[in-house]
Amino acid sequence: MAPYRARVSDAGYVPPFPKGWYVVAGSDEVPGPELVALGAFGRDLVMGRDAAGEVRVTQDLCPHVGGLFSQGGRITDDCIVCPFHGWKFAADGACIEVPAGDSIPERARVRMWKVRERDGCIEVFHGRRGQVPDPDAEVFDRR
Ligand code: FES
Repeated sequence: MAPYRARVSDAGYVPPFPKGWYVVAGSDEVPGPELVALGAFGRDLVMGRDAAGEVRVTQDLCPHVGGLFSQGGRITDDCIVCPFHGWKFAADGACIEVPAGDSIPERARVRMWKVRERDGCIEVFHGRRGQVPDPDAEVFDRR
């Protein structure tokens, strides 16, 4: 288990960020399927690579009972898997498996952030939920 680190959200204040793409990490900071902690937009997030090598970014908080994905979570079978009780979340954020055999809660899902990788950098789109980013917009483009 990873040692405790100060969480970005401990500050208690989330400043506003304009809509757009932001460089959040270097490509070499996301080596594989292990979920790596990422502080961005005043939030605690995690990032990891799926089987195709695509980077996925989501919240660092499991909706089950609040386990931290950064404490040993990984991407397996193209799903984000919580290290605590094994709940699995698909690429769209929906929970698709609860290993204990319980039924899947209807609202169990995580927020998946839109990600692109260019020139050795991981870029995340910050905008309203459901907003479709221009995939060709430059970083910090505020159109
Ligand atoms: S805290 Fe994530 S599955 Fe229980």
